[in-house]
Amino acid sequence: MVGVTCREDRDANRLSAESLAAGDPVGWFERLYAEAGRGTAIVPWDRGAPNAMLVQWAAGVFGDGATAMVVGCGLGRDAEFVASLGFRTHAFDVSPTAIETARARHPDTAVRYEVADLLALPARWCRAFDLVVESHNVQSLPPELHATVSAAVASLVAPGGTLLVLAAAGDGTAKGPPWPLTHEEIEAFAVDDLTIVSADLVAIDVPRWRAVFER
Ligand SMILES: C[S@@+](CC[C@H](N)C(=O)[O-])C[C@H]1O[C@@H](n2cnc3c(N)ncnc32)[C@H](O)[C@@H]1O
Repeated sequence: MVGVTCREDRDANRLSAESLAAGDPVGWFERLYAEAGRGTAIVPWDRGAPNAMLVQWAAGVFGDGATAMVVGCGLGRDAEFVASLGFRTHAFDVSPTAIETARARHPDTAVRYEVADLLALPARWCRAFDLVVESHNVQSLPPELHATVSAAVASLVAPGGTLLVLAAAGDGTAKGPPWPLTHEEIEAFAVDDLTIVSADLVAIDVPRWRAVFER
């Protein structure tokens, strides 16, 4: 049987395959954003609206000047939404082109966009944010990195703060990217004194996790 690859996934599949074969699980993101900037590739997660699961979770949430960090923010769609809730919002991505494009798309933004690597976070961000949003980033990295990057995400949450994790749900057998997260991998965000409040399976297009943690 011949497999079918959707047009929107084709460039990500090509670039990730090349990058992973070269032993570099991260480099393809920058290449994808750069090609998309030249009009020669499609970023599959570049959608016109903020993530529906984030919007749903945020009903009745008001930032009132609290701090937020949007992890792996890509082109800024979710970061702009979080800022619209009244959070003093920071956002980072490993791809310089993604950050440049996010700033260009939102010239009047209140979001502080920065280039940073989840695998080497600045010390000043440790336990610094009242709300941390992690959406579909950990699953885009190989499973052997999941525990390390989940702990890095968790380290951003301030005392009294909240972590929202959105991810595709899987049984650990996927040949990614992406590598959807198992229940154990969701629980692995609860490191140190971060505790899990809820982990709900939500059926949208595919089964997805919406998990909430508090410190
Ligand atoms: C599948 S996309 C998800 C983007 C966005 N969070 C969303 O939900 O639409 C994964 C994002 O994580 C970023 N990323 C991958 N590895 C990273 C790392 N080590 N540090 C920071 N960002 C990373 C990529 O550049 C990309 O923007």
